Amino acid sequence: MMLGEESESADYWKKCGDEALQNGIEGVIMMGAHWDCVGLDKVEVSMNPKPGKSPVAYVHPSKYVDYELVPDLESGQKCIDTLAADGFEVSGNDKFDWIHDTYLILIRMFPDKCPPTTIVSLNARFDPHFHMRVGAALRPLREQGYLLIGTGGAVHNLYRNVWQPMVKYSDNFAQETPPGDWAMEFRQAVEDAIQGNSGPELRRAVTRLMKHPRFRDAHATDDHFMAAMFVAGAAGSEDDSGTYGRLKAETWELTHMCNSQFTIGQYA
Ligand SMILES: [Fe+2]
Repeated sequence: MMLGEESESADYWKKCGDEALQNGIEGVIMMGAHWDCVGLDKVEVSMNPKPGKSPVAYVHPSKYVDYELVPDLESGQKCIDTLAADGFEVSGNDKFDWIHDTYLILIRMFPDKCPPTTIVSLNARFDPHFHMRVGAALRPLREQGYLLIGTGGAVHNLYRNVWQPMVKYSDNFAQETPPGDWAMEFRQAVEDAIQGNSGPELRRAVTRLMKHPRFRDAHATDDHFMAAMFVAGAAGSEDDSGTYGRLKAETWELTHMCNSQFTIGQYA
C-alpha cells in the first residue's frame, strides 16, 4: 500500500528516476518479489509485447490503470542471451502481466513516461546464491547504460504485521507501538551488510543474511528477499570493491514491515 501513498521512500524513488533520465539510461532491468518460475535452474524474462497490470489490493486503480508500460523486448532478448551464456535455463515469457512490485515503482520513479523496462523472474526454489548469480550475470549491462533495480523488502512478514489500522482506517503507516525487536534487529543487519561491504564481500554478506537468526521472523517466506540477492550480484563484482551501498530512505508500514531504500554505485 505504501506504493500508492506519499512517503519518504516514494520521494526518493522520484529523485532516482530524475537522476536516471538526466544520465540518459538505456533502460531499466528489474527483479521483483512476486513473479517466480518452477524448475531447477529456470529463470524467465518478460517478453510480453502488451503486458497488462495485475491489480493490487488497497491501492486505488486510478493510481495505476492509465500508466503506459513500455516493455523492452530487445533488452529482454539481451538478458535472455546473457543468462543463457552463463548457463541458466532461461526463456522469455510472452504472457506475463506486470505486477505492482515493479509497475508501481516505475510510476513513482518515472511519472511522465515509463522507460524501456525488462523484468526478470525469481526462481521458486528461492536459493540466495542462484539469485545472486542472476544479478552477477546481468552486471555487464550496467556498463551498457542500464539501471538495475531489485524490489522486495528488508523486513516483510505479512503474518506478523498489524493490519487493523489499515483495514479499519486505511492507515498503513499507523505505528501504535514500536516495531518488534526481531524486526529492528534484522533491519539493522540488512543495513550493516549493505553499507559495510562491497564487491564480493557484499555478495557474501547479503546471501548470508538468510542464515541470520532473525531471518525467518523477518521473512515468513523468502520471496521478498530475493531481489537483495540479485542486487548484491549486480553490484558485487571485483570491480565494485570500494563502492558501498547507501541507505537513502526508509519507510515502516503496518508496524513491523520495513522498506529500506538502498543505492549502490553512481553514474559514470
Ligand atoms: Fe510484495
